[in-house]
Amino acid sequence: MSQATARAHSNIALIKYWGKRRGPRNLPAVGSISVTLDALYTDTTVVFDSALDADRAELDGRPADAARLTAFLDLVRERAEIDTRASIVSANNFPTGAGLASSASGFAALALAASTAAGLELDPRELSILARQGSGSAARSIFGGFAEMYRGEQDDGSDAFAEPMLAPADWPLEIVVAVTDLAAKAVNSSIGMSHLDRRSDYYGAWVEHSEGDLAAMREAITARDLETVGALTEMSCLKLHGLMMSTRPGLIYWNPATVAAIQAVRGLRAAGIPVYFTIDAGPQVKALCAPGHGEAVARELESVPGVLETRRSALGPAARLRA
Ligand code: PMV
Repeated sequence: MSQATARAHSNIALIKYWGKRRGPRNLPAVGSISVTLDALYTDTTVVFDSALDADRAELDGRPADAARLTAFLDLVRERAEIDTRASIVSANNFPTGAGLASSASGFAALALAASTAAGLELDPRELSILARQGSGSAARSIFGGFAEMYRGEQDDGSDAFAEPMLAPADWPLEIVVAVTDLAAKAVNSSIGMSHLDRRSDYYGAWVEHSEGDLAAMREAITARDLETVGALTEMSCLKLHGLMMSTRPGLIYWNPATVAAIQAVRGLRAAGIPVYFTIDAGPQVKALCAPGHGEAVARELESVPGVLETRRSALGPAARLRA
């Protein structure tokens, strides 16, 4: 028996990933840039055990569908040249599958725990490539602070990985997550972004403009220019949701509280607080703000009708092993 436990934090993209290139296992059609969140994480233990005749998985104390996980574990087994089955026990410290990036932290933690338990010693880039094969955004959760995920050009995905940009201490921004619905989302991102080339007339424009958005964001992050980072973040978010809404069938992830929270963030900004919103494939609103403003932003978002709770977060660390 060999086992390992890892913790990885969730991340939110400032420049969004949506759409896949042709080929196996989450080759992104566009690059992306994200921040890793200290307050939201997944702990995962993997035990390879020769007494097991099938993989077993448990998420937040309940049995989980092992099929997607078996396909992922097979990648690890193939590389480690073992065929032992595994038991996976995983827990999120936040609601699963509701647009809080549980697949990002989940597959990053699983990549590190499973590869270590299998006796592999992967470097961060190899881990990022492995995590991407579980979920595209998980490639970024291998790293802390700001990270960039590359689209890559190769059909085998060997250049589709993330790299760190800035450590949390380099630019200690705050994030406030406004939760507007705790239920798991109806259309998960893998299904939502499949076959977009056929399903949205806007998809070509989305891909075409992504390089320019990424370049502008890199420059703004390097300059620690929050106003530009914020403007690009809101633009990428709204462009993503425009693309989602234009998909056949149209994907609408927002609820009335999502829109109200967007307006509240813009209201705070009009009142002089440097805060900007972003939203993933779910109804939660994440507000990115300058250091020291998290408390005021959380208080305002909590007063928005339909906002159930808020979570404040600093930028988080890289995925790591735990005792
Ligand atoms: O990694 P996935 O398949 O869960 O897709 C993530 C998609 C978004 O969260 C909407 C955007 C992103 O870049 O994280």
